[in-house]
Amino acid sequence: MAVRTEGLIKDFGELRAVDNVDLEVRTGEIFGVLGPNGAGKTTTLRMLATLLSIDGGQAEVFGVDVARQPHVVRQLLGVTGQYASVDENLTATENLVLFGRLQGVGRARARTVAADLLAEFGLEDAAKRPISEFSGGMRRRLDLAASLITRPPLIFLDEPTTGLDPRTRGQMYQTIRSLVADGCTVLLTTQYLDEADQLADRIAVIDEGRKVAEGTPDELKTSVGNSTLQVQLTDPAELTTAAEQIHRQLAVAPVLNRLNGQLNVALESADQAGDVLIALRTRGVSVASVNVSKPSLDEVFLALTGHGASADPTTAKDPR
Ligand SMILES: Nc1ncnc2c1ncn2[C@@H]1O[C@H](COP(=O)(O)OP(=O)(O)O)[C@@H](O)[C@H]1O
Ligand SMILES: [Mg+2]
Repeated sequence: MAVRTEGLIKDFGELRAVDNVDLEVRTGEIFGVLGPNGAGKTTTLRMLATLLSIDGGQAEVFGVDVARQPHVVRQLLGVTGQYASVDENLTATENLVLFGRLQGVGRARARTVAADLLAEFGLEDAAKRPISEFSGGMRRRLDLAASLITRPPLIFLDEPTTGLDPRTRGQMYQTIRSLVADGCTVLLTTQYLDEADQLADRIAVIDEGRKVAEGTPDELKTSVGNSTLQVQLTDPAELTTAAEQIHRQLAVAPVLNRLNGQLNVALESADQAGDVLIALRTRGVSVASVNVSKPSLDEVFLALTGHGASADPTTAKDPR
């Protein structure tokens, strides 16, 4: 096990930001912690990275207790994302060398490693330019490169693609996958369901500090039903009537979106959709549109938490 936590807790005054979280990250996997802004993702990572004290429960990294042996844990870790703790006025090469030196790597070795990493991350051309001229995507890649100078066996990536355009995001996915192919274990946080779906072997869904579900992307989707019926009502005021009818009929409570008059319900089989629509018509509820699909992680999230995650990468704010 690369990471194991049991009953992990962090309080900020009255606020319990991380509430009894159990995690098990296996060596060699990409593990995704998925949750909306403010869910407690960064706080969890910071505790595991020894950057924040642990208020309750236990955490181990490769079997080493995080609270008792923080100095050992730090040597097993690369931490990146959201911090971008690089000096704006230094060039990419100077920054990487500085990082290496700070971590006890000799000057000559640091120079070699910096050059290798810049090549690996497609930043060769930018090696001699100051960071202040870098795009967001280049900064993220440099950030990740910096955390790899000592080739740690475990890497924490805190929202590695938030704020990146789709192309740069794709490059970051490649980089993350190649790290794992090289034998690294990756623990990443994201607020994008799609990202967790594409990258992670297993996912823990957290909301308001609590873990609400865990599993492979497929397990999570199946847990919500084999398919999902999405009904758009003509009149949002009829949502309650429609929900009652569906609940009585299928013994499952639909998830309602009162703002736009839409409801989602998990079906055991897609055939049930027809029965639901007939019953709604019998009740006099008018339907504007219908969609039956395999559940997406979006629906999983909605079903688990009663609210959506940030689903649109282009409008999400950089949480830094
Ligand atoms: N240093 C802090 N002091 C007080 N509250 C904090 C601090 N850091 C985070 N919080 C609060 O803890 C909660 C979880 O924050 P965070 O872990 O940053 O969430 P996420 O990374 O999932 O967006 C939020 O409500 C946030 O406002
Ligand atoms: Mg965060």
